[in-house]
Amino acid sequence: MASQPPNGPNGQSLDRSNLIRFSSRLKEGRALALDVWTIFSAVNLPADCINLGQGYMNFAPPKWVTEAAEVALHDVAPNHYSHPRGRIRLREAIKSFYGPQFNRELDVESEILVTSGANEGQYSVFTAFLEHGDEVIMFEPFFDQYLPSVTFNGGKPVYVPLHPPKDSVKKPTSDDWTIDVEELRRAISPRTKMIIVNTPHNPVGKVFTKSELESIATIAEEFNLLVMADEVYDCLVFDGKEHVRIANLPGMWDRTVTVGSAGKAFAATGWRIGWLIAPKSIIQPTLAASTRIVFCTNSPLQEAAASGLEQAKERKFFEIQRAEYEERRKILCDVFDELGLKYTLPEGSYFILLDISRVDFPEDYPFPESVLGRGRDFRACWFIATEVGVSSIPVSEFYCEEHANIGEAYARFAFCKDVDTLRAAAKRFQQLKRYIA
Ligand SMILES: Cc1ncc(COP(=O)(O)O)c(C=O)c1O
Repeated sequence: MASQPPNGPNGQSLDRSNLIRFSSRLKEGRALALDVWTIFSAVNLPADCINLGQGYMNFAPPKWVTEAAEVALHDVAPNHYSHPRGRIRLREAIKSFYGPQFNRELDVESEILVTSGANEGQYSVFTAFLEHGDEVIMFEPFFDQYLPSVTFNGGKPVYVPLHPPKDSVKKPTSDDWTIDVEELRRAISPRTKMIIVNTPHNPVGKVFTKSELESIATIAEEFNLLVMADEVYDCLVFDGKEHVRIANLPGMWDRTVTVGSAGKAFAATGWRIGWLIAPKSIIQPTLAASTRIVFCTNSPLQEAAASGLEQAKERKFFEIQRAEYEERRKILCDVFDELGLKYTLPEGSYFILLDISRVDFPEDYPFPESVLGRGRDFRACWFIATEVGVSSIPVSEFYCEEHANIGEAYARFAFCKDVDTLRAAAKRFQQLKRYIA
């Protein structure tokens, strides 16, 4: 017979539902909050809702890449532990593919680290470099994972806004979201350790210009900051715009870690393969952290990612993929134009910010508890998903509480979906007409 749990001193039965207190670090960085991905996940929305919310593709990776995964699975070595730095084939492929873009011969032993997605790579950098109370500057809106990844490692996020396009701009592009360099300078304190620069940017689509990056570089040099260049969308830059790597600016290599993702490059977000490129002084401590966090990244899919990078140039893969994304982007832009709704034309990444201030919905609509008490954008996105049948993500989630009102004017639509899905969404958007004030 199972033994009975002990009772309290007076024989009363004890509440055993919460015996072990969890770490206080979970109380920071919104780690326990009901996150936007859960609220707007497909299971909570009408069954036939078209999902333009979360940023993952509804198409498979290229066949020649998945074939390489199959080959690896049928081999022996790639079914076992890899070196914590990553499999040598992938490190060699990263060296060949990216070396010329960094104008240097990358050292596969000390300047490249394969990680479990960009996300774990970034987490490992925070673990390796942050002391308790160190400040990390991030531009708002920001990729939401940064926040708990920083606070779990004792860091303190400091927010600097990307200023939205002025009302007078009739057809804004992501270039109309601007930084104020003086504002950035004012955000620096003696505790500032790091700055995250995400270009092309999620969710704005902004591709930082050389002159913006030069201003950031000047500040990084002046205050001795570590720069995390989150460039996971580097292969998705449109309209002939140049993707400038901050690591290539004078003096910046020594203080910059550049983050990449096979998930974004090869439509394989579930593979969890990413990489860091940086000098030895940054990779070495990060490797020490990463080795303790995951030890190594899954091996067969490293082989597949290597095969992707090895063949990409000859197959003109990234050129073709870019053109496909431009076509996808156009489908949404065309319908928003037709409806007369303002949006930010993204010059990179795969998100469009739609200005939803003119979308009029009844305040007494039967909204679930999860969106009540949040920004207006949560209600607007919920309303659009249920009435029009297309889901999106409310942008206030990408802001700190203090500045959430800036994000409330926007919904983020992901266009990493096949053209049929986007055309079906465009058709549904016609129903939005009657809700535009
Ligand atoms: C800006 C940015 N950085 C990093 C990541 C994480 O990439 P991965 O899936 O490789 O971890 C994402 C994913 O959405 C992202 O948007």
